[in-house]
Amino acid sequence: MRLLSLSLFLLTSSLFAQGPEWAYQSVTEEIPEAHHFDPNELRSVPGSDLQLTQDQIDDHWNPPDWFPNDHAPWPAIVAHGKGREVRACAACHLASGMGHPESSQLAGYPVSYLVRQMEYFRTGERTDRYWMNRFAEYISDEEILEAAEYFSAIEPIKWVMDVIETDTVPRTYIGDGRMRFIHPDGGTEELGYKIIEVPEDRELATTRHPYSGFIAYTPVGSIERGRNLVTTGGGKTLPCAACHGADLRGGFLDYPGIAGGSPVYSIRQLYDFQTGTRGGAMGALMSPVVANLTTEDMVDIVAYLATLDP
Ligand code: HEC
Ligand code: HEC
Repeated sequence: MRLLSLSLFLLTSSLFAQGPEWAYQSVTEEIPEAHHFDPNELRSVPGSDLQLTQDQIDDHWNPPDWFPNDHAPWPAIVAHGKGREVRACAACHLASGMGHPESSQLAGYPVSYLVRQMEYFRTGERTDRYWMNRFAEYISDEEILEAAEYFSAIEPIKWVMDVIETDTVPRTYIGDGRMRFIHPDGGTEELGYKIIEVPEDRELATTRHPYSGFIAYTPVGSIERGRNLVTTGGGKTLPCAACHGADLRGGFLDYPGIAGGSPVYSIRQLYDFQTGTRGGAMGALMSPVVANLTTEDMVDIVAYLATLDP
């Protein structure tokens, strides 16, 4: 009996040892009929005169610029990418540099931080399963600097509008571009110990609107547990402010801000630091931070961080 419960314990603990695979949003599902776009329909967003079809919106070498007066002129690499190899940075990271949960925020980060990430992607010290390693191989140092300067100069906006603690969530699916959406047929699911992040307004998010918000559903009690880990370390990790600044918006050398971003993006980073998929000399500073964290701890931490201002 003892042996049995021991092996059951080992079995369950190894199941729990699995990382947050859900955060990579890799398995795209069939798009429900109600979410198909009419290819001939011209789409627009409030406050912009531009009208585009979905195919034009989804052109990764010519992404939409709904509000050209809101930002500095786009460098060519941001607007059009390079050849067939590199897609326009704005296609995924948006004109606002706020990105989506499946990509990342670039807005407001120090130039040298952004340049370093591109170097790590190039050398393979940091791995993105989908795009960035390939892009970093083909882009020149000059183009990296241009893109980094463009995004660094942008003031980040509050990205996740709402962090909602709950046991049950609307049924969702992962659609085109690896974004998660609420299923139009309705239904609910148990959240379990993870984070589900969906656009507040699917119509807006699918236009690549630069400022559309997201909702993050997180487990009950996660925000308070996360606050404790982030501010005190909770005996498991180091207080984040020591390196990420008093308000966690960066400031010490060129360390990035970690407040107010997508929790799904952030948890991928914590897990990648833990497994070594994300490293490099500067990434090594994160090793002791994540060494003793469980996936549940990481959920708590990023749930709390998402409630802060970026
Ligand atoms: C097709 C989508 C796509 C395009 C186009 C794209 N990226 Fe990315 N980028 C991503 C994804 C996905 C990630 C997040 C990787 C992860 O989860 O670790 C990312 C992450 C990054 C990061 C790391 C951000 C951080 O906070 O550490 C930088 C820097 C970056 N991209 C720069 C660029 C630049 C410069 C361009 C234009 C040449 C570009 N990206 C084009 C998808 C894209
Ligand atoms: C000893 C210093 C140090 C401490 C303490 C620290 N960090 Fe970091 N963190 C860094 C550095 C440096 C980077 C950037 C690595 C690079 O440049 O490649 C980073 C990067 C990150 C990133 C990735 C940001 C992005 O945009 O990709 C996240 C998320 C993060 N840290 C979370 C945390 C959390 C949560 C804590 C507290 C529990 C914490 N860090 C404590 C030094 C630290």
